[in-house]
Amino acid sequence: MELKIFKDYEALSLAASEEIIRVIKTNPAAVLCLATGQSPVLTYQLFVEKIIAENIDLSRCTFIGLDEWVGIPPEMEGSCQHFLQNKIFKPLQIKSSQIHLFNALATDVTEECKRMDRIIEEKGGIDFMLVGVGMNGHIGFNEPGVDINKYAHVIELDETTKAVGQKKYFDKPVNIGKGITLGLQNFLEAGYAVMIANGNKKAPVIKKAMEEEIGTQFPATIMRMHKNSMMMVDEEAASLLD
Ligand code: F6R
Repeated sequence: MELKIFKDYEALSLAASEEIIRVIKTNPAAVLCLATGQSPVLTYQLFVEKIIAENIDLSRCTFIGLDEWVGIPPEMEGSCQHFLQNKIFKPLQIKSSQIHLFNALATDVTEECKRMDRIIEEKGGIDFMLVGVGMNGHIGFNEPGVDINKYAHVIELDETTKAVGQKKYFDKPVNIGKGITLGLQNFLEAGYAVMIANGNKKAPVIKKAMEEEIGTQFPATIMRMHKNSMMMVDEEAASLLD
């Protein structure tokens, strides 16, 4: 795994957006999986601006969802789907046939997970994943202690994830007990994985991700097991590294 440290959030976001564009220019039919959350907001804004300014063709790309809050409707502000639609798909006029997201309202969520894994397989695997990292080290909704062998699955969310999620994403109280997420196997099998983190609050998280023993007790350590991964952080997030 490569580690790249940037001066600030702006520099990190610019570099991350350029990385996504580089992947697409190298492979115009790339299968991309892009996380939601606060960390990549500026990355996606810069990505969208550049795609439009340079008129880059995304019509052969496929977009795969990373995760979703079980039971939260897609149109609700705070859902991952709402985020991706508004920040990426609508501004870039991505066709719905190119987008494959978890249906968090599916009556059979196990079948829904199988459906997503089947799509990934049919598309020949994920070429590029951009992930954030939770305060508990989660990647997607792969919470501490998750089975490393899992592909898409439903998971009981950690107390931290529920509390942070409620506060950060939803203005009204919501019932967010479970998440539906790609698993660490989907992550490890992705051709290339980038994790981004910024700000002082992520400093202890990045320290653990980089220095703790690799294992799912702190899922972000799995980054170091990936065959082709890059950790991109700003100076604040890197401030506790040895
Ligand atoms: C979101 C996701 C989460 C976030 C993580 C960090 O799709 O998968 O794992 O990446 O919770 O969130 P932020 O970036 O808001 O700190």
